[in-house]
Amino acid sequence: MARIIIIDDDELLCETLIDLLTRKGHTVSSAFTISEALEKCATEPFDVVFLDVRMPDGDGLKIIPELKKAPSDPEIIIMTGQGDPGGAEIAIKSGAWCYLEKSSITRELILPLTRALQYREEKARTIPLRVLRREQIIGSSPQLNKSLDLLAKATGSDVNVMITGETGTGKEVFASTIHNNSPRAEEGSFVVVDCAALTETLVESILFGHAKGAFTGADRQNTGLILQADKGTLFLDEIGELPLSVQKSFLRVLQERSFRPVGGSTEEKSDFRLIAATNRDLDAMTESGRFREDLLYRLRSLVIDLPPLRERGGDIFELASYFVNMLSLRYGQKRKNFSPEFIEALNSYRWPGNVRELFQAMDRVFATAIDSPTFHTTHLPEEIRIDLAKSSLKGGHHHYADGWDGYRTNGLTSWKEYKYEVEYDYLQRLLALTDNNITEACRISGLSRARMYQLISKHKHQTSSENPTE
Ligand SMILES: Nc1ncnc2c1ncn2[C@@H]1O[C@H](COP(=O)(O)OP(=O)(O)OP(=O)(O)O)[C@@H](O)[C@H]1O
Ligand SMILES: [Mg+2]
Repeated sequence: MARIIIIDDDELLCETLIDLLTRKGHTVSSAFTISEALEKCATEPFDVVFLDVRMPDGDGLKIIPELKKAPSDPEIIIMTGQGDPGGAEIAIKSGAWCYLEKSSITRELILPLTRALQYREEKARTIPLRVLRREQIIGSSPQLNKSLDLLAKATGSDVNVMITGETGTGKEVFASTIHNNSPRAEEGSFVVVDCAALTETLVESILFGHAKGAFTGADRQNTGLILQADKGTLFLDEIGELPLSVQKSFLRVLQERSFRPVGGSTEEKSDFRLIAATNRDLDAMTESGRFREDLLYRLRSLVIDLPPLRERGGDIFELASYFVNMLSLRYGQKRKNFSPEFIEALNSYRWPGNVRELFQAMDRVFATAIDSPTFHTTHLPEEIRIDLAKSSLKGGHHHYADGWDGYRTNGLTSWKEYKYEVEYDYLQRLLALTDNNITEACRISGLSRARMYQLISKHKHQTSSENPTE
């Protein structure tokens, strides 16, 4: 059963809740001030925190980030009396689980608590992900989650990592996230080497550095990238492009962690972690003698294969919304809506350039539809519309991406996804109509405040309801 703490200066309420929750089998304690709460949360692990907003020694909402930092990473349920609902937005944005009104709390707390505990249980099964700072990796498809699990594994060790995947699938984002989540981020840098951009004559000196006068034009000594990655991470992008001669010297560096700069007389040491990436078939290259098998073997201690975007159904919409919200914020524009056909088109297109292509396309859509509150298929770049038109002509065959529930047919999405989109669309229109006034939105929709905030939170990536007002 769960370990729960009630943080509230209302002793009577604390007692009532302790009584109620203890009868449900939970272990419950309480704190009457913020300082007492922080002290308890720092020393005891809790699964769930019930937090009052107005505390005698400060604002309860301000300590949410502090509470979330505890190793047990508790779920936080905010309790509020009437009159301070403005904090709902802050609460949800700062990672609270949900928001309950005190007047009805004894009746309403069981369901959100059960859900929060369920969520924790599921989260606990993928422990590494809990500590992972995902940074800018957007998406929640099962396919991406698999890769994220491997990413979490990579951060917990120092093994060489090989990231494969089509162009634009996020190989570099993954590599930097591994570095930033590893202990190496504290002491060393993330050094990127784009092997495709190095000419054969320069590659050795760029990697290993060179001594003064090592060759014509080397009028100064130069530290190579391998040394710059000392205590940090060396990211060899497009490793398939590394010339065979350099592959040989690099293998030696991997084995010995020491190397000799071009024209240098002494060995240098570098303690780096290696991440390599490629979108080429290294096995085929090995077979045809263009890539060293022994090097490949060493690089592959842990392989993360990033799936193409078209195979990560739900992510397309999530990524597109994220990117457009970012642009809207940057250019001070109102939130944009996507028409259902627009979403359908995004899901049907094959995205050969993956996330990079999607972002570029959304960038162009944004510029084209700058005055339109809703994006329609007509705003899509011409080549994408042409491609879609052609593929729909081929006997009505669409390149449907896998939906969240597996597949789509004839323009119909899965029920879950359809419901999600309708819900999202409704919420957007409701918030636009009421200008983010939650009271008004609740009145029109007939939804309770708790349900409304739950919905906003569920769709927050997409709606980013910036300023709900009362
Ligand atoms: N899951 C994601 N969430 C957010 N942004 C992403 C994601 N995946 C990729 N991107 C973005 O897409 C673009 C391409 O990603 P990245 O450069 O990591 O791809 P890549 O696999 O290294 O491509 P290439 O093989 O062409 O070098 C970047 O702008 C990156 O920030
Ligand atoms: Mg790249």
